[in-house]
Amino acid sequence: MNYVEPPPAPKPGERKTKGKLPKVLVKPSKKRKIIIEKAQIRDVEEILELVNVFAESNLMLPRGPQYLYENIRDFVIASDRNVPVYSLTDTREDLHLIVACGSLHVLWDDIAEVRALAIHPDYQHLGLGSKLVEFMKEEAKKLGIKQLFTFTLTEDFFKTLGFKKIKRKSLPPKVWGECSRCPKYFHCDEIGMVLDL
Ligand SMILES: CC(C)(COP(=O)(O)OP(=O)(O)OC[C@H]1O[C@@H](n2cnc3c(N)ncnc32)[C@H](O)[C@@H]1OP(=O)(O)O)[C@@H](O)C(=O)NCCC(=O)NCCS
Repeated sequence: MNYVEPPPAPKPGERKTKGKLPKVLVKPSKKRKIIIEKAQIRDVEEILELVNVFAESNLMLPRGPQYLYENIRDFVIASDRNVPVYSLTDTREDLHLIVACGSLHVLWDDIAEVRALAIHPDYQHLGLGSKLVEFMKEEAKKLGIKQLFTFTLTEDFFKTLGFKKIKRKSLPPKVWGECSRCPKYFHCDEIGMVLDL
């Protein structure tokens, strides 16, 4: 299904997301029941849509279906049930909507990367990003991982979760694997951050 409404205008200073995501008709609140769980194959299309809307604004790496299917077990999603949205025909529909996603990718015996963290614009600043990282943190601990790593443009968000900026020279070689596939390879503006578990 395709939906016509673009995401709401960004707050001053924020980059505008260019893509199309369903426009939610009810104001999301902390009281709504939003479920955080591991992703399944059926979620791939919605995850791609969410991630690639932000990728169009250079906020994260674009992803394709092959990456998603191969790495689906890395992904965690947050979904809101029975969300009223506008459809193409301008009628109201209630959807089970994936409103956030993130992934935990194991890099080596002691380090895992937080990737593809994306929260639907209508659902930002409700604590969802923090909850998804917390979920992945617990998963990483259970796996025996000692450190989380991320490349990001939203340093302040990760700072609130205890991540610390790390100099490029100090980054373990394993973290550069994805960079060789990144369109920003020659002009990377992302910051490396780590969290000891
Ligand atoms: C960055 C992002 C993941 C944050 O998710 P969120 O659910 O809105 O974050 P939370 O509600 O858990 O925020 C916790 C705190 O982190 C900080 N924070 C959140 N978003 C921030 C941002 N974009 N920039 C700086 N600080 C931010 C704030 O202090 C916030 O507390 P507040 O809401 O009381 O002000 C989300 O805005 C997003 O998906 N952005 C687009 C994609 C992106 O940049 N992904 C980053 C990883 S590559």
